[in-house]
Amino acid sequence: MTRGTKEKSMIELNGVSRVYQEGKNAVTALQPTTLKIDKGEFVCVAGPSGSGKTTLLNLMAGIDTPSTGSVVINNQQINGLSPTHSALMRRQTIGFVFQTFNLIPVLSAFENVEYVLLLRRVPSPKRAALVEKALKSVGLGGYEGKRPFELSGGQQQRVAVARAIVGEPSLVLADEPTGNLDSQTGSDLMALLQKINHQQQTTFVFSSHDPRVIESARRIIYLRDGLISDQSHNQK
Ligand SMILES: Nc1ncnc2c1ncn2[C@@H]1O[C@H](COP(=O)(O)OP(=O)(O)OP(=O)(O)O)[C@@H](O)[C@H]1O
Ligand SMILES: [Mg+2]
Repeated sequence: MTRGTKEKSMIELNGVSRVYQEGKNAVTALQPTTLKIDKGEFVCVAGPSGSGKTTLLNLMAGIDTPSTGSVVINNQQINGLSPTHSALMRRQTIGFVFQTFNLIPVLSAFENVEYVLLLRRVPSPKRAALVEKALKSVGLGGYEGKRPFELSGGQQQRVAVARAIVGEPSLVLADEPTGNLDSQTGSDLMALLQKINHQQQTTFVFSSHDPRVIESARRIIYLRDGLISDQSHNQK
């Protein structure tokens, strides 16, 4: 039986725009955008600097509020939620990976990943099992005790990926995840995200302006001046 469109849908943007007020000037970071991303997709938001990639991802995450339109994640409208409910939705549904890794320097790899589960009040034995599993799945079994400064950039980003997936989110948002990695390490990271996407059906939406990273996506959404200018699908 085919699943209904409602059940398949991960993200729906309906006429979503974002205008920033800068003094007397209004800057349109995103023009009204309607877009649907299904569960299990592996999507790149591509476009030059200033085209609105971060704005679009922040709106999908509920970190930013649209000027017009509605954002629906997992069949729940998220704009208009109270800050508490919005944070709860994010914690339950979305994992984040950042360009600058954003690991906590004084915590070990294990503790950086565990932190997410502490926020969710997952009991201790289950926490340890989930953290071990996540670190193994990013190829960092044995690195539990290492602090960020003892790890390479690629390894730090893999800890960040483990942190993003440890709570088994249905969606991972990654704003330029390879932006601070050399091109080989960046390719390796994309291969890892593809593996997780295949194995766990996690939906990935990431941004990049690196052609090699963009090419790794199954679907590419091109942004230009805050507007979707083109979309393409790769057979993978
Ligand atoms: N907080 C803000 N206040 C005012 N203008 C903003 C703000 N955030 C973004 N903008 C503007 O919105 C537009 C889109 O910015 P955004 O950061 O989404 O682009 P981007 O594609 O992520 O760029 P980059 O590749 O450099 O990260 C730009 O013109 C930017 O200057
Ligand atoms: Mg950006």
